Amino acid sequence: MRTYNWAILGLGNIAHKFAEDLALVPGARLHAVASRSLDKAQAFAATYGVPHAVGSYEDLLAVPDLDAVYIATPHSEHHAHTLLCLRAGLPVLCEKAFALNARQAQEMIEVAQAQGVFLMEAFWTRFFPAIGHALELVRAGRIGEVKHLVADFGFAATYEPAGRLFDPVLAGGSLLDIGVYTLFISQLFLGTPTTVRAVATPTGTGVDLSCAMALA
Ligand SMILES: NC(=O)c1ccc[n+]([C@@H]2O[C@H](COP(=O)([O-])OP(=O)(O)OC[C@H]3O[C@@H](n4cnc5c(N)ncnc54)[C@H](OP(=O)(O)O)[C@@H]3O)[C@@H](O)[C@H]2O)c1
Repeated sequence: MRTYNWAILGLGNIAHKFAEDLALVPGARLHAVASRSLDKAQAFAATYGVPHAVGSYEDLLAVPDLDAVYIATPHSEHHAHTLLCLRAGLPVLCEKAFALNARQAQEMIEVAQAQGVFLMEAFWTRFFPAIGHALELVRAGRIGEVKHLVADFGFAATYEPAGRLFDPVLAGGSLLDIGVYTLFISQLFLGTPTTVRAVATPTGTGVDLSCAMALA
């Protein structure tokens, strides 16, 4: 079996989990890491035994033998960082939330298609065995026709105005961080809604602390 050479762009919290888990995946190895800080990239590379460490995202494009890039930066950066890699002909696995709006998402898809390279949102929930099982039950008619779905996701976040969860510049807020999971469940089982109503509770930074949505 071929071994695919992965890179990580942006070395925050989830990048460490990805590096730990990639080591368990047959046919995959971590080949390069890119940070805005060379020291940080080198320390990360030393921890996980990664052969290439670079101190800017642009420098990643010059690393030889890359097969795919995992983008693990804040939501605000996904569009630019995905386009950076796609335009260099590199396949991309981009963290959720994929983009800030439909226009950005559309452009990312169009560039991937024009370049003929793979592009995917890193939405691991879609691959949970429990989700697969629930889909099988519904498709087999075991619970009858699905007419109503209730999805809930929340956690108590420490208020850090400059952190990615709260800073509007980094596209913080509950909808983009975890509301996307409940929307995904709705889309998967009930399809695209025709009507969306939403109310949000703002934080001191102006992003949504919580968001309640009714889709029909
Ligand atoms: N799938 C999941 O279960 C899951 C779980 C957690 C998070 N996520 C997603 O993963 C992404 C990253 O989340 P995280 O918790 O790892 O965030 P984080 O700890 O804040 O790390 C984000 C990294 O992005 C880079 N970055 C680039 N531009 C930045 C900027 N302007 N400000 C701050 N950082 C910047 C930084 O890396 P360098 O300093 O190395 O350049 C930073 O360490 C988000 O899209 C989030 O929604 C997914």
